[in-house]
Amino acid sequence: MSDTMKALVFSAKGQPTLQDRPQPAILKATDAIVKMVKTTICGTDLHILKGDVATCDTGRILGHEGVAVVQSVGDGVARFKPGDNVIVSCITSCSSCEYCRKGMPSHCIDGGWILGNTIDGTQAEFVRIPYADGSLHPMVKSATAEEQVMISDVLPTGFECGVLNGKVAPGNSVAIVGGGPVGLGAMITSKLYSPSQIIMIDLDANRIEMAKTLGATHGIVSAQGTDVVGAVMGLTGGKGVDTVIEAVGVPATFELCQEIVAPGGTIANLGVHGCKVDLHLEKLWDRNITITTRLVDASTSPMLIKLVDAGTLKTAGLVTHTYKFSEMAKAYDTFGAAAKNNALKVIINF
Ligand SMILES: NC(=O)c1ccc[n+]([C@@H]2O[C@H](COP(=O)([O-])OP(=O)(O)OC[C@H]3O[C@@H](n4cnc5c(N)ncnc54)[C@H](O)[C@@H]3O)[C@@H](O)[C@H]2O)c1
Ligand SMILES: [Zn+2]
Ligand SMILES: [Zn+2]
Repeated sequence: MSDTMKALVFSAKGQPTLQDRPQPAILKATDAIVKMVKTTICGTDLHILKGDVATCDTGRILGHEGVAVVQSVGDGVARFKPGDNVIVSCITSCSSCEYCRKGMPSHCIDGGWILGNTIDGTQAEFVRIPYADGSLHPMVKSATAEEQVMISDVLPTGFECGVLNGKVAPGNSVAIVGGGPVGLGAMITSKLYSPSQIIMIDLDANRIEMAKTLGATHGIVSAQGTDVVGAVMGLTGGKGVDTVIEAVGVPATFELCQEIVAPGGTIANLGVHGCKVDLHLEKLWDRNITITTRLVDASTSPMLIKLVDAGTLKTAGLVTHTYKFSEMAKAYDTFGAAAKNNALKVIINF
């Protein structure tokens, strides 16, 4: 057996390249080595390539999502054995540090978001998964492997950072700024709480159409010159929106969120921001609003897996393109120009 593998490496700003790398080995008893079956590209990978993520150095193998087969496990791994089909969580959890024990493994002292960031990630044939017991989930048989790739990041991020932090409640109005896969993950999971309105806002008319197909009650294409604030006020009787979810990560969209939040409402930021944004306290100080930020904990993934297994949450509509791993450059081109290519999630098969 060859001891090298193919891997997608962040080789220079703006540039991902397919390279030969040594296969990973078990370094600690709690590690597993998994053989990737399917992976995908996240908006965050695009932020890394732009240089927005200071913790991720060049030379890193990218990727924090996917489904895999366990190849080998260290002596300290209890829940998994070679041959098991698993979902890789984007968050690594030691399950025992102070943060993990309070349900916030995003800040695990020896884990958190490290895959494809500070350690090598899932856009490679083999991956070392630290703390495998807390960082992998068994796959279910009732949903396809592609549907379960959405458990790695898209669904828990949309749900935890958007829906739970945004306090979506029955009858409330929700606006989601950014209809990418994560924004759509927030939209799909917000329906668990029966909001009365789900308004999707995006620059891309195609993404708005997809959002409507998947359950948005209203869509606003925020092309240049569109009065987005006026449109939202028109839909909400001039009040604004109870929950505004920021799912882009640029100053313009966070500013828009501040303009459309209703009195007493919540702005739940989930976009990864690479530069500073103005906070308009001169307009918001008396509005009784809440602003939340969160790195996904993926602590709701076991619950979300049950809902995917039961058919309550349907994620198949989020996948638009499929490539072979050898076509990774094409997959990045497609996802990087998502509007032109009518792309949402691209699945890469190994
Ligand atoms: N907080 C977390 O833990 C976490 C986890 C995963 C992803 N993220 C972040 O979530 C965000 C969304 O991820 P994604 O994979 O869906 O990304 P994406 O790039 O596919 O989607 C972003 C969407 O925003 C739209 N957009 C861009 N500029 C806009 C503007 N000015 N007005 C309106 N819409 C605009 C784009 O057309 C696109 O549809 C990214 O910032 C990503 O880094 C955060
Ligand atoms: Zn991600
Ligand atoms: Zn921990």
